Amino acid sequence: MKKYLVDDVAYYVNAKGDGPILLFAHGFPFDGRLFEPVIDKLATRFHCVVPDLRGFGKTALGSNGHNSLGAPRVKMGRFADDLAILGSEIACERGNKGARFYVCGLSMGGYILLELLRRRPHMIAGGIFCDSNAAADSEEKAAGRNYLADTIDSFGVHTLADNMIPSLVSPKTAKDKTEVVALLSDMITSQSPEGVAAGARGMAVRRNLVDLLPQIEVPILVIGGDSDKLSPVESLDAIAAAIPQGSRATIPDSGHVPPLENPDAFADAILDWFAKIPQ
Ligand code: MLT
Repeated sequence: MKKYLVDDVAYYVNAKGDGPILLFAHGFPFDGRLFEPVIDKLATRFHCVVPDLRGFGKTALGSNGHNSLGAPRVKMGRFADDLAILGSEIACERGNKGARFYVCGLSMGGYILLELLRRRPHMIAGGIFCDSNAAADSEEKAAGRNYLADTIDSFGVHTLADNMIPSLVSPKTAKDKTEVVALLSDMITSQSPEGVAAGARGMAVRRNLVDLLPQIEVPILVIGGDSDKLSPVESLDAIAAAIPQGSRATIPDSGHVPPLENPDAFADAILDWFAKIPQ
């Protein structure tokens, strides 16, 4: 993995391929390994850049990750700023200073993609919005996340995997793909409790960006698993319909993490979309 200094932390990044930059933003509470099975195929068309986000995987939380009471918290805007810095740095390094880049964000990564489109639309050439949503949390959901964060602070991440995995994967994955379930479990239990708590607190205070959707001026592929319980098909249909240049793909035999559950279909959907949009 390569390291890039992004503001106050060293971001750990895997990169591969040639072409326009495609930055990946993983979901919660995962790391860049979420996208590993799709990178070889996508690297035939893109320069794929897969970071561990601040506080996850090998990337430290840094000093920008606390709320006013000192509890760890990273807002979606902070992650978005980090990706903007990383994307600019890599564009410079590749001799394309100022080049716009593509972003593929899954679930929490989708919240980050929307924050980037809100804050820095001029930097984004297009996006892939996976298994996510545009609305803010209800008060009840936000309170649940804060409770989860406090629990993780006290007891660590070990119970998280058992609680989360049944709602993350499709019935087919649960039955036939034990290696995917094992990887999810390993990713979750290997995270730093402080980083996971910080991400949970950040998601709890994210903006409602439903009104941003009709204002997005670049092509966006809205993609999700056919049996994702957390981001159901109808809700992703509505998001794609609200974006002027929105397209839609549904990945078969997949729940909330299609890059692991059905990597070929996921990568093909992105390549098909990319072949059709104006470059
Ligand atoms: C994710 O996969 O990032 C989470 O499901 C996001 C969330 O908890 O809202």
